[in-house]
Formats: sequence, structure tokens, C-alpha cells
Amino acid sequence: MRFSVLTLFPELIKNVIQTSITGKALEKGLFEFDSIQIRDFAVNDYGKVDDYLFGGGKGMLMMAEPVYQAWQESISRSGIDSNRTLTVYMSPKGKVFDQQTAARFNESNHLILLCGHYEGVDQRVLDEIVDEELSIGDFVLTGGEIAACTVIDACARMLPGVLPTADAYLNESHMSGFLEHPQYTRPASWHNTNVPDVLMSGHQANIEKWQKLQSYLETMNKRPDMFWNQHLSEQEWLDLIELIKDASK
Ligand SMILES: C[S@@+](CC[C@H](N)C(=O)[O-])C[C@H]1O[C@@H](n2cnc3c(N)ncnc32)[C@H](O)[C@@H]1O
Repeated sequence: MRFSVLTLFPELIKNVIQTSITGKALEKGLFEFDSIQIRDFAVNDYGKVDDYLFGGGKGMLMMAEPVYQAWQESISRSGIDSNRTLTVYMSPKGKVFDQQTAARFNESNHLILLCGHYEGVDQRVLDEIVDEELSIGDFVLTGGEIAACTVIDACARMLPGVLPTADAYLNESHMSGFLEHPQYTRPASWHNTNVPDVLMSGHQANIEKWQKLQSYLETMNKRPDMFWNQHLSEQEWLDLIELIKDASK
């Protein structure tokens, strides 16, 4: 899997991706990463990549040609056919990013992320090169770089070998439609609060049952929108009601 980022701030992206887990995975060659400086394709010797808006309005817009040439450069550097490449424009107008989208992106061989700045990017180049627009939430950032890092991080950690085992992400929040259960580490007692007895019992079946019910409860409390989209068996409902009753004693 190769990630290419078209950006005016490649250092920002590199600093994030070359750090911690993604950085180690990159060193091991578990994925490829490239950042293309759009300004290298400026329309004049002063590095011009933006211009005023037709029709008036405040701010500057990124010009079509430098973005188009940066996109072509990313494809030729990758050596991957353009029909096996997915080009995504980071944009507050896009569909909101989620775990399923990250998994879908990992099915492509080459993901190109275009980062806008200023007022955004000339529509004509977006229409020509972009397969989809993607937002990381309903707010406006100054540029697409932090959004692009978010996407690469979420995708990269699901690639084989990046985390020690697939279990490390398969049981996490959003993978199964539920949020993860609460977790604890040593010491067993801290600030007069003990780790739940069941986790110290060594009884694996009871631990798994506790984790599953806590995961349901966590989702019900924190993300009711997710919870009510899921199906629970009759027995799971009975167990959950019992748990809620116990907690309120
Ligand atoms: C200031 S924003 C442009 C906003 C644009 N004028 C609008 O109102 O839709 C500059 C750039 O930041 C990026 N960006 C801003 N908010 C984002 C979000 N929520 N998700 C992903 N990218 C975002 C996009 O690449 C965008 O081109």
C-alpha cells in the first residue's frame, strides 16, 4: 500500500507519519509514503500556486495546474497504474471519515490525498482528478494536512504487521459497531479504586462475557446512535439489564 500526499506543507505530514508506530512501520517497509510539494509546480519563479477568486470574495484559491501536475508526478513516481489509484480530496464538504472507509481505502494499491489550503482548490482540477471528497468532521481546518495524517494513521494501523496482531485492532472501538470495554493495568488498586474482580479471576469465559456487556453499556451511554443500530440477542438484553440494575444499586 502506498500513500501519497499532495501538499504545500510536506514537512508537517512527514513529521507525523515518520513518528511512533507509523514511523516504525515505514522503516520496516510495511507501507510506502510519498509527499509531493505542490509549490514545485508553481506557475512562476516566485512559487505562485494560488490566485484571487473569480466572481469576488475574500481569500485565495489554489490554482488547477500546479495541483494537476503534482497529481501526475505522484502517479509517475509510484509506478502504479492510475486505475489502481484512489484520489481523495480532503474537504469539509466530503463524506465524514470512519473505520469502514479506512478499511475500504486499504483495498486500493495507491491512495493519493490532496490537501487544500486558503479557500480550497479550483473546482476544475477537482472534477478531473478526484474520486471522492472526505471530511474528518463537521468543522473547517486551515488546511487538509492534519486530516490527511488522520487518514494515513487510521489506514496504516490496519495493514498487516503494523500492529503486533490483527486482534490489536479487530476488538477495538468501531470495528464491530460497538465501543471497546473499559481497560485497566497495574497496580490492581489505585486511589482506593480496585480493578473489577472478574478481571483478576483468571476465568476466561466470565472475563469475555464481562467485556462484551461492558462494551454494550459503554456504547449505550456514549454513542446511543451506534447502539440502537445493533442487534442484541434476548439473553444479551437480559444480561445487560441485570448489569444496569447491579450498577444502580
Ligand atoms: C479553509 S479550508 C477551505 C474551506 C472551504 N472554503 C469551504 O468552505 O468548504 C482549506 C482546506 O482545508 C482542508 N479542510 C478543512 N476542513 C476540513 C475537514 N473538516 N476535513 C478535511 N479537510 C478539511 C481542505 O483541504 C480545504 O481545502
